[in-house]
Amino acid sequence: MIPFTCVRLPRLSLVNRILVTGGAGFIGSNFVHHVVATTDAEVTVLDKLTYASSEESLAALPSDRVRLVVGDIADFDTVDPLVAAVDAVVHYAAESHNDNSLSDPAPFIKTNLVGTFTLLEAARKHDVRFHHVSTDEVYGDLELDDPKRFTEDTPYQPSSPYSASKAGSDHLVRAWVRSFGVRATISNCSNNYGPWQHIEKFIPRQITEVIEGRRPRLYGDGLNVRDWIHTEDHSSAVMAILERGRIGETYLIGADGELSNVEVVKAILRHFGRPEDDIEWVTDRAGHDRRYAIESGKLRTELGWQPKFQDFDKGLADTIAWYQANEAWWRPLKAETEAKYAAKGH
Ligand code: NAD
Ligand code: TYD
Repeated sequence: MIPFTCVRLPRLSLVNRILVTGGAGFIGSNFVHHVVATTDAEVTVLDKLTYASSEESLAALPSDRVRLVVGDIADFDTVDPLVAAVDAVVHYAAESHNDNSLSDPAPFIKTNLVGTFTLLEAARKHDVRFHHVSTDEVYGDLELDDPKRFTEDTPYQPSSPYSASKAGSDHLVRAWVRSFGVRATISNCSNNYGPWQHIEKFIPRQITEVIEGRRPRLYGDGLNVRDWIHTEDHSSAVMAILERGRIGETYLIGADGELSNVEVVKAILRHFGRPEDDIEWVTDRAGHDRRYAIESGKLRTELGWQPKFQDFDKGLADTIAWYQANEAWWRPLKAETEAKYAAKGH
């Protein structure tokens, strides 16, 4: 009788070597953890290690599966050999914060536009599969009472330098697909929350303000709506698109998580046993988008993707617990982050 041996085959036959740009940032690092946990693929992270990054987010990962290359996506000589050595590029690297794009747009143009162009040129040269990670903010905003949500057919109408630079990068990807046959897909996702998010962003800023004994800070009337998704669900969606998405297609990623900013802040205050009206109302953001909302039927129907985190209070509680357990990570960033906001009246 022939002895039976159990061989564990790699789950990803076509993408065993992945280059993740921006893999030391919030969503990119969570994606690298997801890849390591769910596949046998080897990952190279290319990251410039800007203020928004954290090498620590990758520290627990096995060094035989994940390596970090420090460099700029806008530098072709850095990018070219890295792209040549992989089966797929998953492109997260970006300047990602709207408020920063209003005070200094220049790095947004360089990284989000020139950086994406540079990666596309390398993907074209080496015929490497490319997935571009983008945002629902390219579609502009919706009225609070509008029954519509964004779909893949919604016209682009970005409001801020950040969203305009991401919109431009999406257009570059489509042009490289059509003109040069680059094997690319695009995803536009709604607002993410979860571990390792920089404390300049809305949810971790409010959690850390409350931990420090201050009031959470709401822009304008606090009624602006964001469509929240846990970053782990974003990762599983990107993986589904990378493995099974149709080349040249765009997929919207969302988990039906629409909440106003004041609802989110009240949920955080409730969690800490603080009065729900213990809020600091601050100057509104210029050009502040009113509402984002994603219709993700194409991704769900075509690729069979489903979000796992559908209970926002539970996902928020996990996230709060993470920031409580990881004070040593965010505390050194807090004073500088708040000083930047204070200078803008936020
Ligand atoms: P982030 O700011 O936390 O991380 C960005 C990472 O990119 C950092 O590690 C930074 O060092 C790196 N980086 C910046 N410029 C670089 C350059 N020139 N070369 C190499 N690396 C560079 O951002 P995030 O929130 O994790 O967002 C990641 C991606 O997801 C972005 O493309 C963003 O547009 C998109 N996105 C974000 C959200 C959200 O809610 N945060 C929602 C949808 C889409
Ligand atoms: P943000 O995390 O900057 O994401 P985005 O601008 O990409 O949606 O902000 C989310 C929402 O929270 C947005 O409506 C602005 C608002 N906001 C506040 O009300 N207070 C804050 O301190 C911050 C940082 C954001």
